Amino acid sequence: MQQVNIRFTSSGYVVRIGSNLLPRVGQETRAIARSPRAAVITDAGVAAHYLDPLLASLRGAGLQAEAAVVPAGEASKSLTQAGELYDRLLRARLDRGSVVVALGGGVVTDLAGFVAATYMRGIAWVAVSTTLLGQVDASVGGKTAVDHPRCKNLIGAFHQPSLVLADVSTLATLPDEEFRTGLAEVVKHAVIRDAQLFGLLETRPDPILGRDPDALEDVVARNVKIKADVIMADPHESGLRRILNYGHTVGHALESAAIEGSGKLGGAPVTHGRAVALGMMAEARIALARGLIGSAPVERQRQVLKRFGLPVQLEASVDLERCLALMQHDKKALAGRLRFVLPEAIGAVRDVDDVAEDEIRQALLSLTSD
Ligand code: GLY
Repeated sequence: MQQVNIRFTSSGYVVRIGSNLLPRVGQETRAIARSPRAAVITDAGVAAHYLDPLLASLRGAGLQAEAAVVPAGEASKSLTQAGELYDRLLRARLDRGSVVVALGGGVVTDLAGFVAATYMRGIAWVAVSTTLLGQVDASVGGKTAVDHPRCKNLIGAFHQPSLVLADVSTLATLPDEEFRTGLAEVVKHAVIRDAQLFGLLETRPDPILGRDPDALEDVVARNVKIKADVIMADPHESGLRRILNYGHTVGHALESAAIEGSGKLGGAPVTHGRAVALGMMAEARIALARGLIGSAPVERQRQVLKRFGLPVQLEASVDLERCLALMQHDKKALAGRLRFVLPEAIGAVRDVDDVAEDEIRQALLSLTSD
């Protein structure tokens, strides 16, 4: 097992990464709780595999644990669903000393973290992350949110968990497409911050793709360290943390445009990971056209994404003008400027706010003719 400590001025928490961590959740949660009540929030897909052992661990540690199971999928990240969960917590008589345990991937940790952030003005929560995306990104850093019908993650709060457990054994049951979505964020972390990790992804992809537990523990721990460094320097995204949005400015717009259109991205049903992979390719092409980066590192990024089964070519059916219009709506542009994180080398990026619409159009077009 590996451990990454996250420290802020007046608080901190631990991220533990390893195999078979679920049995220890009870004792660890008991140590955090100031009352004997806890609630597990999870989704139907994850519950089938892991809810019973988790409840057994919590109850075995002396906690009165209730479970609330929400439907799997992004639609559960709503204020309506959050409202139902407040009712559940109230009925289970959770008080200010109780703990919410989020069991699942990014949707569940965003939603359960948001409910924990707002119930009684904020109670403690533990993230037990069961997807690669959750383990390398969503469960670490305290971003919690639900979606507004017109904008993803619009309603939320920064509320750091008290503990994060990334059990790599749970990745064995993860569908391939979800695993790939996590790999897109892994490539992102390597490109923005860690040339050594990038080298590992290039030279030793097979144990990762084969989901070898030791390889996964190593990769997840390296990614958590990268994310920890960034969020410790900038917990509320007023500066450095923005680099974590590499690939996402274009990616989010592509994701929405493709969902509105054919539902396909890079030749398969849209996923966040597919959108981020294409977003990283588009943003790298913007940097290339500006002379910020050479063609060799952009090609290296392309090859690694391809090796991980992520798309690097954009089909003509995606409406690029719609994508450009959606980008203008991106909430990060609410302050008036569209910000981009552009790579300067493998392991180094720059935050810019002067990218013209035509630069984005040209970069997207270049991906349709690859
Ligand atoms: N997923 C980006 C961040 O946590 O800031």
